[in-house]
Amino acid sequence: MKVILKISEMQKYSAAMKKQGKTIALVPTMGCLHEGHLKLVDKAAACAEIVVVSIFVNPTQFGPKEDLSRYPRPVEKDLALCRKRGADAVFLPSADEMYDKDSSTWIEETMLSRGLCGKSRPGHFRGVTTIVAKLFNAALPDIAVFGKKDYQQAQVIRRMVRDLNFPVKIVLHETVRENDGLALSSRNTYLSQEERKNALSIRRSLKSAKSAILKGGKNVGLIRKSIISGISSAGGKIDYVEIVDAGNLEPAGKLSGNILIAIAAFFGRTRLIDNIEINRN
Ligand code: PAF
Repeated sequence: MKVILKISEMQKYSAAMKKQGKTIALVPTMGCLHEGHLKLVDKAAACAEIVVVSIFVNPTQFGPKEDLSRYPRPVEKDLALCRKRGADAVFLPSADEMYDKDSSTWIEETMLSRGLCGKSRPGHFRGVTTIVAKLFNAALPDIAVFGKKDYQQAQVIRRMVRDLNFPVKIVLHETVRENDGLALSSRNTYLSQEERKNALSIRRSLKSAKSAILKGGKNVGLIRKSIISGISSAGGKIDYVEIVDAGNLEPAGKLSGNILIAIAAFFGRTRLIDNIEINRN
């Protein structure tokens, strides 16, 4: 497995692979890899001949009061996991390599990124789209694989790819969960045992909301209220609970068609997100 630190080398490597007629799938990550990321690596390997994993904790998608400095960076462990899972290359640039000191160009999606995490983390998606575009320009992938836990992120990136004509196919993978339902996340490592147990209320509330809707529940306000109470009574502090149209992420007026329930909640200092899709036609 090749470990590539420089953008120019990454571009050279990808161009050489393309010259040999090989297709490239990129798995963009911020490291601290878990089975959820590794499932994306498997998916990438099923879609293309060359798998590139990028590991970069992107400073521009963190707000000033967020956890950039304490974000875990177990680089050697991450490299070993990528090697074991069969990645062909890991792109591991430094912050100075990715951003010039006077970097002043951004990519900003302005519709899908307005609500949900975009509302509570201003500037977050601008950082995400900018870095993902830069990673695309470095790794030159034919395919890029993202997880559905970050559903809004995936939709925002899809829109960017469509609007700016990136020649990259976006492939999504289902959220990977622990046996008890907790969505895998690098941030789970911050949770105490007690917080982790309480955090199961997120999945529990999402599942009971889904079953209430599929049984004919029609009242958006009531469904929202029961999710909020399920999480709050387990000690979670709600950032948002939104029931939206799964396509445009606008608040769902009624519970029909493709709906997404998306949640962000704090357990202790740790902010977790999760979602559930509901198809009610
Ligand atoms: O989902 C993530 O880990 C990050 O937002 C991404 C897509 C790697 C961009 O930094």
